[in-house]
Amino acid sequence: MTTTPIPAFPSGFRWGVSTSAYQIEGGADADGRAPSIWDTFAGTPGRIVDGSSGATACDHYHRHTTDVALLADLGVDAYRFSVAWPRVRPDGGCPVNPAGLDFYERLVDDLLTAGIDPVATLFHWDLPQPLQDTGGWLNRDTAERFAEYADAVAARLGDRVKLWITLNEPFIHLSLGHGTGEHAPGQALFLDALPVAHHQLLAHGMAVAALRARGAGPVAITNHYSPVRPVGDTEADRAAAAGYHALHNRLFTDPLLGRGYPTGLTTPAVRDGDLDVIAAPIDVLGVNYYNPTGIRAAPEGSPLPFDLVELDGYPRTACDWPVVPGGLRDVLVWLHAEYGDTLPPVQVTESGCAYDDRPDAEGRVVDTDRIAYLDGHLRAVHEAITAGVDVQGYYVWSLLDNWEWAEGFTKRFGLVHVDYDTQTRTPKSSYTWFRDLIAAHRAAPRR
Ligand code: BGC
Repeated sequence: MTTTPIPAFPSGFRWGVSTSAYQIEGGADADGRAPSIWDTFAGTPGRIVDGSSGATACDHYHRHTTDVALLADLGVDAYRFSVAWPRVRPDGGCPVNPAGLDFYERLVDDLLTAGIDPVATLFHWDLPQPLQDTGGWLNRDTAERFAEYADAVAARLGDRVKLWITLNEPFIHLSLGHGTGEHAPGQALFLDALPVAHHQLLAHGMAVAALRARGAGPVAITNHYSPVRPVGDTEADRAAAAGYHALHNRLFTDPLLGRGYPTGLTTPAVRDGDLDVIAAPIDVLGVNYYNPTGIRAAPEGSPLPFDLVELDGYPRTACDWPVVPGGLRDVLVWLHAEYGDTLPPVQVTESGCAYDDRPDAEGRVVDTDRIAYLDGHLRAVHEAITAGVDVQGYYVWSLLDNWEWAEGFTKRFGLVHVDYDTQTRTPKSSYTWFRDLIAAHRAAPRR
């Protein structure tokens, strides 16, 4: 880790942390919540590595006061959480469950009292199971249901949430949930899953209209980005890398910024007028970054034209992901160069890493690797700002160790360690480091 201090960020830069509903809340049956596709998926033997589910997770639903106190001590400007659709509209459509909204209202009000801006994501992959039963994101109606749900949340919280994020990482929900089946709903449709991309984007566009109609804003979407590195030097390898780049990085961004779908990635699900709905102006683009992706051409007869390849020569996290901070700078600089004036201001809405963190004999959790990871990624963000990219915030994934989807409880991403037996929260060294960094920047921002 470099010992020179991280350069000062512009005044007004937003420091934050992110979480998502199914990964921390628990309270799976509380106050009228009904199952989502992740309850169903986790209940299917063999889907989750440790056989667990998010039924209890960090029990945040019953402990949000403790967690807001942790946020206040950390000193963040903003907290990004997600609203669970199956709490607000348990059957996917009508009626609204007021008790579900009550929880988010308590959370939002407690955040505001603590001086923290609530940033709400409306869909972080927990589709109500009844909507999956009618086709899920393969069914265009799901977009309409999403807009109704967005309206219901905005009707209650539109005056208090400071940034609205419609969808989290529609590419990951498409690729792992519907392309390969490693995530809920567990469909392995490969490129036949493309209508899922379109219906998510349509849902986003309709939700933007619903939020604005309620006077709620500013409005954003969060995408997952990964710089693509061709592995192998044949023409086929380079073509595979270009194809994968279009799928991962441009499939969702091109239509959002008014360009329509990249060549070869459209679907018959697109109807007249849809692209205009999708391209409704947004105020912020959320960028999530974890690592670059190595790609080479797939062998003849493979269901996809590319193979994902491990990138050698980098340190690795507990997820076995390469640690490449410069990839975050590359993504931000690429977005700026590629989309120019059509790119709205950017916020890095997730950046973080899993390590095998455990309390030591004194009960401290010393996570030096995570501090080095965050330090490197913040320097990369600073380089992008210096290169002219309008990056207005950085949110660490995640506040708490939590339920990491198909990896269950085996991967710890938190600034705060969670003992899942006792629900004890122990701030790690990285929490103290991030707290001190925020305080130092707040005292001396760049003007
Ligand atoms: C997701 C999070 C997830 C994190 C680490 C992101 O893709 O938004 O829900 O926990 O990556 O895998």
